[in-house]
Amino acid sequence: MLISLEDVRQAYHLTYPKLTAIIVSGTYEKPNAMAVSWHTHLSFNPPLYGVSISPKRYTYELINRYGDFSVNFMPFGMAEVVWLTGSYSGREVNKFEKFRLMKLRARKITAPIIAQCLAALECKVVDKFVTGDHVFFVGEIVHAWVREDTILDKKRALLSPDKAQQVYYLGEGIFLTIDAKTERKFE
Ligand SMILES: Cc1cc2nc3c(=O)[nH]c(=O)nc-3n(C[C@H](O)[C@H](O)[C@H](O)COP(=O)(O)O)c2cc1C
Repeated sequence: MLISLEDVRQAYHLTYPKLTAIIVSGTYEKPNAMAVSWHTHLSFNPPLYGVSISPKRYTYELINRYGDFSVNFMPFGMAEVVWLTGSYSGREVNKFEKFRLMKLRARKITAPIIAQCLAALECKVVDKFVTGDHVFFVGEIVHAWVREDTILDKKRALLSPDKAQQVYYLGEGIFLTIDAKTERKFE
């Protein structure tokens, strides 16, 4: 039996669990990290990636100031760090120091990437839209990184599900990852 939600504002939960990443903004010297679940690919050519950020976040300020950000996909062993970057503001704490994130200089943007990531996208902001109480930043992917041992095929960058144990967020502080045993292949 299908039931109706009492409050449609809770409907966003119905699309979870979501692959959750850490957005890094700011500079190599003063980077900031924040958890994001609302992010998506938008175009193959040019390669565009969108992230929805509330103007309340320090990250919002930094992306506007420097015009770029990195999207960092973390191993499941670091799910708690993902949670913590989404629970504190960079206005109050240095999240790189406090949560032992290591930074690497990006190739083509001001913001660094996270050294412990499975994969990272370097994005330059090419557009932004106000979408209700969030702002949707459209970034062009100008460089991408992946941990060599997590992909099946370098040309297609296809991830190996048992090696790339990514972080998924269900809501209310609950995280999970993919069970490779559920894999099915269709020809
Ligand atoms: C799992 C998780 C996912 C989140 N996803 C988003 C998101 O997509 N957009 C957003 O604006 N805030 C999101 N947040 C909230 C921010 O990460 C949080 O407010 C953070 O403390 C902001 O940090 P900052 O002030 O240093 O930028 C999320 C939080 C968590 C825990």
